[in-house]
Amino acid sequence: MKQGFIGFGNLANAVYRGLKEDRSFDFAYFARSKKDVDLHFFEHLDSLVSYADVIWLAVKPQDLGGILEQLKNCDLSDKTIVSPVAGKSIAYIERYLGKDITIVRIMPNLAMAYKASVTAFHTNHPENDKADRIFNLLGKLGKAVKLEEGGFDLFTSVFGSGPAFILAFIKTFKDKIQEFDLPGSVLDELLLELTRGTTLYFMQNQKDYSIEELIKNITSKGGTTQAGLEYFQSHKISKHFEGVLDAARNRSEELSKNGDCNKAT
Ligand SMILES: NC(=O)c1ccc[n+]([C@@H]2O[C@H](COP(=O)([O-])OP(=O)(O)OC[C@H]3O[C@@H](n4cnc5c(N)ncnc54)[C@H](OP(=O)(O)O)[C@@H]3O)[C@@H](O)[C@H]2O)c1
Repeated sequence: MKQGFIGFGNLANAVYRGLKEDRSFDFAYFARSKKDVDLHFFEHLDSLVSYADVIWLAVKPQDLGGILEQLKNCDLSDKTIVSPVAGKSIAYIERYLGKDITIVRIMPNLAMAYKASVTAFHTNHPENDKADRIFNLLGKLGKAVKLEEGGFDLFTSVFGSGPAFILAFIKTFKDKIQEFDLPGSVLDELLLELTRGTTLYFMQNQKDYSIEELIKNITSKGGTTQAGLEYFQSHKISKHFEGVLDAARNRSEELSKNGDCNKAT
C-alpha cells in the first residue's frame, strides 16, 4: 500500500517512523519544502495523488481548506483519505471531495512513532475494505478504537491532552521529592521507574483485576496508602480531576465550532 503524506511535519513523521520497517508499505510526501528525510518528495500535489493509494492530510487545520480545494480537482477514485486534522469533521472534507470517496478521520498521538499511540477511528464508508485496511494499519501503530465522531472531543481531551495531565501529576511528585537534594535528572529517573513499574503492574494484572482491586492490593489497613487515599476521597480529588478533562473537552468543542482548531491539542 502506497502512503502519500500531504505535509511532512510532526504527525507524518511519527506515522512514517512507526511504519517504515514494514515492507508492505511505500511512502512519499508533498510539502511546501523538501525535508531532510529518506523518502521520496513530490514537488506537485497531483503527482503525489497519482502515486498514493492512501492520502494523509497531515497539515494544520487552517491549511486544510486550501489543500482540499486543490485535491477536489484531482482524480481520487480508488484513493483513501486519512485525516488526523483536529476539529475538522468528515462532513467538512466531504463538502470538497464528495460523499463517495472513503474518508477516515483519526485522532492519534505522536507515540505512533513508538507504535504506542491510542488512536480513535471513524469513517464515512464502514462497509468498505479500504477503511478496514486503515484500521489494521493503525493497529500496527498502537491501539486503535472505532468511535462515533461525536466522541472525538472527549477522546482528544483524554488521549490527546492526557499525557500532559499525567505528566502534570508526576510533576507534583517531583516537586515533593526536591527535598531529597538529588539532581533533577536523578529525580526524573526515579519517577520514570515509578511510572514504568506502575504501568507494568497495571499491564500484568488488568485482565484479572479491576483498577479498584489493584489499588486495594497496595493498601494496608491503617497504613500510609490508606491515609493518602482517604485524603483523596474526602477532598474530592477525582471530581476535581474530572474537571480538568471536562475543561479540555469543552475547549476542543469550542475550537471545532469557531474554526480556531489549529490549537486543538
Ligand atoms: N502533532 C500532534 O501531536 C498531532 C496529534 C493529533 C493530530 N494532529 C493533527 O495533525 C495535523 C498535522 O500536525 P503536525 O503537528 O504534523 O503539523 P506540522 O508539524 O506543523 O506539519 C504541517 C505540515 O504541513 C505542511 N503544509 C502546510 N501547508 C501546506 C501546503 N499548502 N501545501 C503543502 N504542505 C503544507 C507543512 O509543510 P512545510 O514544512 O514545508 O511548511 C508541514 O510539513 C494537524 O492538523 C493536527 O491537528 C497532530
